[in-house]
Amino acid sequence: MTTILKIGGSVLTDKNKVSAARPDVIARIAKEIGEIDSGKLVLIHGAGSFGHHQAKDYKLTDGLNDWSIKGIWPTHSAVTSLNRMVVDALQMSGVDAIPVNPLSSCTLSGGRIEHMCLDVIELMLQDDITPVLHGDVVMDRDRGVDILSGDQIVPYLARELKVDRVGIGTNVDGVLDRDGKLIRKLTPGNMGEVDKILSGSGGVDVTGGMHGKIHELMPLAKVGIPSLVFNAEKPGNVMKFLKNDLQEGTFIRGD
Ligand code: IPE
Repeated sequence: MTTILKIGGSVLTDKNKVSAARPDVIARIAKEIGEIDSGKLVLIHGAGSFGHHQAKDYKLTDGLNDWSIKGIWPTHSAVTSLNRMVVDALQMSGVDAIPVNPLSSCTLSGGRIEHMCLDVIELMLQDDITPVLHGDVVMDRDRGVDILSGDQIVPYLARELKVDRVGIGTNVDGVLDRDGKLIRKLTPGNMGEVDKILSGSGGVDVTGGMHGKIHELMPLAKVGIPSLVFNAEKPGNVMKFLKNDLQEGTFIRGD
């Protein structure tokens, strides 16, 4: 069994401040991961307050120019310092976790992943090492440089590695409708309806981000890789997800 688990940057950091980690949350989640032998695991985390501010200041999503070129290092440096905290916490919890930095192992074309050095990840998994990837600034064939979100890494790796399941740990209970009610199950059958509800909810950050996530996850569900969007801020949920025992959240399935 191979699992991809993504933990959002808003869970691991305080998004309202610059480069402010939540070490207690990082330690708790690492401990939950260390307590369960869930087979092979790929971990992906967001940047949260480590990288978003820098990427914005240096306008990294505008492509490469005299100003943005100066932002590659501060952005990468910020997100890799969060990555180091995550990997350190996992190691302390007995997980053989090792970083894989997208900037050094991946290229984009038009903002989408063009190539990723999968050999490293495959060999790590073969040897029961947990690769830990993250959102990053990455070289782009067309734009020079762009920001790669962890949300895009998830479906890419899920397909390439033919994983069995995907978990998306966020700071909300799952996919919420306009009234804030949890949608329990998303399938290609009810996707049209849900699309309407979500796009009608008017540019709220979390919902907007969630909309993008679902559009990355639904095609995966259609090829037989289910995912679960759940609240990783609730103690125990990450462990339950890894045990295949979590009944909360939004299940995204092909049928
Ligand atoms: C963003 O990554 C990467 C940078 C800004 C460097 P994500 O898109 O995966 O981060 P979160 O989950 O939104 O914080």
